[in-house]
Amino acid sequence: MTDYDLIVIGGGPGGYKCAIASAKLGLKVACIDKNSILGGTCLRVGCIPSKALLHSSYQYVHTKNDLSKLGIKIKGASFDLKEMLEYKDARVQELGKGIEYFFNLYKITKINGLGKITSFDQSNLEVSVEGKALKTKNIVIATGSDVSSLPGINIDEKNIISSTGALSLTEVPKKLVLIGAGAIGLEMSSIWSRLGSEVTVVEFLDRIAAAMDGELSKSLLSSLQKQGIKFLLSTKIEEIKQSSNSLNVKVCSTKDNQTNIIEADKVLIAVGRKPCTDGFGIDDKIKKSNSGFVQVNNRYETNVKGIFAIGDAIGGAMLAHKAEEEGIAAAEIIAGQSPHVDYEIIPSVIYTHPAVSSIGKTEEALKSAGRKYKVGKCRFAANGRAKITDDTEGFVKVITCGTTDTILGVHIIGAYADTLINEAAVAMAYGAAAEDIYRICHSHPDVNEAFRDACIDAFFKK
Ligand code: FAD
Ligand code: NAI
Repeated sequence: MTDYDLIVIGGGPGGYKCAIASAKLGLKVACIDKNSILGGTCLRVGCIPSKALLHSSYQYVHTKNDLSKLGIKIKGASFDLKEMLEYKDARVQELGKGIEYFFNLYKITKINGLGKITSFDQSNLEVSVEGKALKTKNIVIATGSDVSSLPGINIDEKNIISSTGALSLTEVPKKLVLIGAGAIGLEMSSIWSRLGSEVTVVEFLDRIAAAMDGELSKSLLSSLQKQGIKFLLSTKIEEIKQSSNSLNVKVCSTKDNQTNIIEADKVLIAVGRKPCTDGFGIDDKIKKSNSGFVQVNNRYETNVKGIFAIGDAIGGAMLAHKAEEEGIAAAEIIAGQSPHVDYEIIPSVIYTHPAVSSIGKTEEALKSAGRKYKVGKCRFAANGRAKITDDTEGFVKVITCGTTDTILGVHIIGAYADTLINEAAVAMAYGAAAEDIYRICHSHPDVNEAFRDACIDAFFKK
């Protein structure tokens, strides 16, 4: 006799979506999380709180700097950081309750506590939580990821902080140094510079947002510099020393070895995240990579039959929607179906202003693969809706196959890049050619027309 068909360890976007999908497919499911609020990193200290602060801080600078142009006169716009943080926390609580609502609806057992796998025998799988042993037919490890640091640097969440600390600062730091110009570094630098911090971003590589198409990272760099954020590229951090009332950050150029000291009152370390795969009994039993990611096959199966793993815990793009896709696919596999996640068309977005978004192949990747391709572009300056809303910065870049016209990649920088990328995702999922988008009527005046115009540009390119 088993208690459950499936126990999911971890209630983040991967885990809770897996639990809900399994319950919909008729399985008896429990989901364990050591935190009382479901939603994982994404909801508690990731996607949601960061986007709430990005939204509030943007509304503040937009009101202060841009509304006058539209004929709206607001004198002395100011902000209350405590209320901004409360606004963010309220959204987190509400969304957490939303997940619980679905757990109740689909009769999923929510268990609060640290889940440990205590039997790996396929006919007798067992998870223990809070001293109670639960028998199950299947287990999904969805334990996600955690902040990581650099050798010799201790994140104390007081002066040297991670993204988690940066989402709850009760005072605006005068001087903030960010290490790493990936998604976290760029989003956090936007929030705090909008609220008045003097921000310096230190990046080891010679470009920011390195995973994005090169043209996007160049344009974003120039936009963020105009907003007052300072960037030290090709620069690595050597050490952080506490002086009487500030931090001295020693950095070194990777080009000429020149060292420099930057003063800061807070340093934010944003150099990637590490899998959360220790401390729950899997060490000797489940195969992991050298970096600690659980190793799975293309059906999310670990080396132990009946035990699956998904999301940040298995590596790849550390994105909430990628974890969700894997959670749903694992549920369907356990229920006997044959789903497929297309890793070629997972969109990624950095929610700065302008935002940047990307899906499919970059121009650099196609060039180095020697593929024949065409590039179509539409600048938002030529788009009616963007003109109306005064968001004309940026462009849509569509890359198509030079022989078949099939869309291979879409890269967008602009105020609407975050939502617009999903039209590209649908198009690419159905194998659309640029001409297909050309032949689809788009409403006017809308920013989606910029995607269509970029497709038209690519289609007619010789
Ligand atoms: P997680 O969300 O990490 O959830 C894992 C859960 O497992 C946690 O709740 C943890 O408490 C629980 N757990 C771990 N071990 C145990 C155990 N032994 N027993 C019980 N419970 C356990 N991604 C995006 O797509 N878009 C964004 O805008 C975005 N913004 C981000 C901003 C920040 C600041 C950060 C840090 C991340 C952001 N991400 C974003 C990444 C996203 O949050 C992660 O990719 C996503 O949360 C991974 O989901 P997951 O379900 O794999 O793991
Ligand atoms: P990241 O991997 O995206 O970026 C880390 C950056 O730090 C890289 O550019 C790297 O070159 C740099 N770096 C590493 N070591 C360094 C050093 N010693 N000195 C200077 N620079 C150094 O990781 P990040 O930004 O911490 O984000 C973690 C994860 O969270 C990512 O996988 C990301 O996808 C996810 N996330 C997603 C968001 C989104 O989708 N909008 C927002 C925030 C996070």
